[in-house]
Amino acid sequence: MEIIIQPDADAAADMAARIFANLIISKPDAVLGLATGSTPLPLYRKLIAAGLDWSGITTFNLDEYIGIGPDHPQSYHAFMQGNLFSQVNIKPGNIHIPDGMASDPEAHCRAYEEKIRQAGGIDLQLLGIGTDGHIGFNEPTSSLASRTRIKTLTERTRSDNARFFGGSGEVPFHVITMGIGTILQTRKVLLLATGKNKARAVAGAVEGPVTSMNPASALQLHPSALVCLDEDAASELTRCDYYRWVFDNKPSWQKI
Ligand code: F6R
Repeated sequence: MEIIIQPDADAAADMAARIFANLIISKPDAVLGLATGSTPLPLYRKLIAAGLDWSGITTFNLDEYIGIGPDHPQSYHAFMQGNLFSQVNIKPGNIHIPDGMASDPEAHCRAYEEKIRQAGGIDLQLLGIGTDGHIGFNEPTSSLASRTRIKTLTERTRSDNARFFGGSGEVPFHVITMGIGTILQTRKVLLLATGKNKARAVAGAVEGPVTSMNPASALQLHPSALVCLDEDAASELTRCDYYRWVFDNKPSWQKI
């Protein structure tokens, strides 16, 4: 894992935007894995402002709530449309988000995996992290080998996400999410985390044991995982001096 610590959330988003923009420019037919939530919003604003060419880009989102359609304002379809896709020249046919209204969700999950495979796999997967360490909606105790499937949210995640729904009673109980095994198969992952409320989960993911109790710790098994943090999210890590030293002394061909 490579840990990049930036002074604040805006600088962390800048770093993440640079990594995504470099890929979009160097590989115009890249396959991106995308996330929703509060954390990626500044990153998406920066990518929009960069005026990049998305015409050859394909995307796969991590997850979607079951039981709400794409027109529901809190669906991840609506989130992605409003915060990114409507403002870049991506082809609608190249956008993939799990369908929370699929009549046969299990068959839909299998088909989603197949579409990722047919697209040639995901080049760069963006991840946020839940306060309980979830990635995608792989909640604690998720199988580290899991593939895209239906999951039940924890009460903690439902209450963390209640802010979007006007109360946790409205947050769906079930979701479709890429699995941890799916995420581990991507060619590169970029976990972006900002804010003090993520510090404990980040420390467990980076410096704790690999355990399904902190699903993000599975990224220790990923051959190319970048963890981009602000100072607050990094505040419970014990090896910050080393991470900063590694970043400051990167060989020129590895500079971001
Ligand atoms: C969203 C997702 C989730 C979020 C996580 C953090 O697609 O997969 O894992 O990344 O819940 O959410 P925020 O960024 O809102 O704190």
